[in-house]
Amino acid sequence: MIIENEEDIAGLKTIGHICAVTLRKMMEAVQPGMTTAELDAIGNEVFEKAGANSAPMNLYQFPGATCISVSPVIAHGIPGDHVLREGELINIDVSAEMNGYFGDTGASMVVAAQVPEYEKIIAATKSALEKAVQAARAGQTINNIGKAVQGEARRNGYDVIYDLTGHGIGRHLHEEPVQVFNQFKPRDRYVLKEGLVLAIEPFLTTGKGHVTEEADGWSLRTTDRTIAAQFEHTIIVTKDEPIILTA
Ligand code: CO
Ligand code: CO
Repeated sequence: MIIENEEDIAGLKTIGHICAVTLRKMMEAVQPGMTTAELDAIGNEVFEKAGANSAPMNLYQFPGATCISVSPVIAHGIPGDHVLREGELINIDVSAEMNGYFGDTGASMVVAAQVPEYEKIIAATKSALEKAVQAARAGQTINNIGKAVQGEARRNGYDVIYDLTGHGIGRHLHEEPVQVFNQFKPRDRYVLKEGLVLAIEPFLTTGKGHVTEEADGWSLRTTDRTIAAQFEHTIIVTKDEPIILTA
């Protein structure tokens, strides 16, 4: 969506903040021995207290309030009886709706340990998100975002996951522009307008950058079973630095 008034900004800020708090509380709660269903319940409780609705559950009948992916699954992982272990690489993705406005945020982390290989890809992906957010300016073309992500991935020795993209957001979870690519697409010259709301979500990997759906019909893992990381923010494009709604 493109914001039209202060009410739009306020509505987006409210749900963006709820998503950010939910993600933070879940990340803080992560510990070995807990199941991903227990972790999801913590997120669900934040939604309920705030009066927000899980987007994947309400829109797609996703079997969870949030997506919790355990490597090599990198997106749409179903919370369940998987018991988290020290040193596992996981991703939590939180998207929700309130009063007709949507927010979407995500982060990768390691369960209760320092694993240099994982810390490195996590840092590079976080940095790619920062660069991508800075590249999203009114008047610029949308392919600047993918250029920033891909550039930062390569600089750190990684590739992007080509099959997974960011998206327009606001009044719906997914709206125009339908794909915000994580790679540079020379011909993708859609011009970013002031007030455009985007979910930017770089995915970096040590592998070839493709994903395969698991037998559960949801979980997307890297096809080559390599590691991957994702970070995501919902932003409002302006002429200068974007407004980060999920900070
Ligand atoms: Co997301
Ligand atoms: Co998203």
